[in-house]
Amino acid sequence: MFFSSGKKMADQQWIKRQINDPYVKKAREESWRCRSAFKLMEIDDKHSILKPGHIVIDCGAAPGSWSQVAVHRVNSLGKDPGPTGSVIGIDLQHMMPVEGATMLHQSDFTSHETQKSLLTMLDGSKADLVMSDMAPNPVGVKTVDHTAIVKLCKSALKFAANVLQLNGTFLCKLWEGNERNDLEKLMRIVFKQVRVVKPLASRSDSAEIFLLAKHFKGLPPKR
Ligand SMILES: C[S@@+](CC[C@H](N)C(=O)[O-])C[C@H]1O[C@@H](n2cnc3c(N)ncnc32)[C@H](O)[C@@H]1O
Repeated sequence: MFFSSGKKMADQQWIKRQINDPYVKKAREESWRCRSAFKLMEIDDKHSILKPGHIVIDCGAAPGSWSQVAVHRVNSLGKDPGPTGSVIGIDLQHMMPVEGATMLHQSDFTSHETQKSLLTMLDGSKADLVMSDMAPNPVGVKTVDHTAIVKLCKSALKFAANVLQLNGTFLCKLWEGNERNDLEKLMRIVFKQVRVVKPLASRSDSAEIFLLAKHFKGLPPKR
């Protein structure tokens, strides 16, 4: 069997990076499903987006570390006195259950049926936070991957605008590129504040950034 030497080298580099990554080690020690947990915790520590009692939708939730963090911080298990929140996670892939969260497996977030199921799960309640860590399988061409991830962000933004309560929050991940401005502009129509965040846990050599939109204004009236 033949392997391309380029692929073999990339695999070796990935393994080396995983072994030496302090966040990978810490995630294992603290039982988070993956190192991404630290990105959300860092964003929340700085911008207070998760509060006890909050209703959260986690788009692109597998393997489940953001949902784990959300369960903890919105008190969806009711472990702490005070308001009890809820977390709904959704992903294309199958996920191991996350205690305290409801998971919608093997579902394409962008499909009408999935969004209808999410609305049914919300049962008339409005969400406090819609977050998207969705990422398409990269094809390796920057512009193509950028366009694909922005499409997922826009789908999550549109959904958020329909389910968030006033003053609610939207967080999405994207890979940098020329469509970012357009996405930010769309976000500014319905949110009072939009900022770019790059947590320390996000690798500095990665094109990944997060757009954090706060204070949902509601949908503009239809003309
Ligand atoms: C970086 S991972 C998310 C990691 C997750 N936030 C965590 O902390 O465990 C990106 C996920 O987005 C999911 N995804 C990509 N496109 C999607 C879509 N159209 N609908 C639902 N999930 C999608 C992928 O299946 C993948 O599991």
